[in-house]
Amino acid sequence: MRLEDIKTIGIVGAGQMGRGISQVCATAGYQVLLVDVAEPPLTEALVKIRAGLKRAVEQGSLTDHQAGAVPALIRPKVQLDQLRDVQLVIEAIPEDLAMKQELLTELNRVCQPQTVLASNTSSMSITKLGAASGRPDRVVDLQLHESGPRDATRRSRVRPRNIRANIASGHRSGETAGESPCGGQGRAGVHREPCPDSDDQ
Ligand SMILES: NC(=O)c1ccc[n+]([C@@H]2O[C@H](COP(=O)([O-])OP(=O)(O)OC[C@H]3O[C@@H](n4cnc5c(N)ncnc54)[C@H](O)[C@@H]3O)[C@@H](O)[C@H]2O)c1
Repeated sequence: MRLEDIKTIGIVGAGQMGRGISQVCATAGYQVLLVDVAEPPLTEALVKIRAGLKRAVEQGSLTDHQAGAVPALIRPKVQLDQLRDVQLVIEAIPEDLAMKQELLTELNRVCQPQTVLASNTSSMSITKLGAASGRPDRVVDLQLHESGPRDATRRSRVRPRNIRANIASGHRSGETAGESPCGGQGRAGVHREPCPDSDDQ
């Protein structure tokens, strides 16, 4: 899978991370299918994404025009099989090994063989998750962070500017270094993006 082949991204879990990741992926121009188990978290996510876009405009990091185009790119779904034609799936469900393993097994069944499955896990072995998926060579650790604009630590953020770099540098299951399944150079360990002082969304 080449980075430029990715047009539509499936995001599973519409909680704190899933909605932030959806927002930056759509702001970067990707079509997003956002999946959760029920409508309420999806509705809440879309409300919060709109609020996040409004803040971005107020802060001058997005124009009205840019922000206005984002919501239409995010389509909420409650069925996993809607992800059958996406090129990349990023899971952002709760940090529970059995849940994530079950989800990856299901995604392996639903998605095309070439689809890359990424996990936003903050603590789990990507190799263990990859083994459960049935496609370990196409599972990457894509840990993204959501620090709101008012987060005093400002350690790291998911940013449209470098979402592609994040995708390209995902750490593959069973890999310590080398080329990532999305092209680009994979990195050993978890990729953390720096948060420069300036706003660059
Ligand atoms: N919150 C953070 O600051 C942070 C930072 C880095 C990484 N992470 C990691 O990101 C992941 C998500 O964390 P979060 O804080 O966003 O969780 P969250 O609890 O806010 O959201 C999880 C969402 O996943 C949904 N969900 C659960 N099972 C599902 C399934 N089978 N299919 C579809 N949706 C499902 C839930 O309904 C919920 O909306 C975790 O692995 C966490 O460790 C979180």
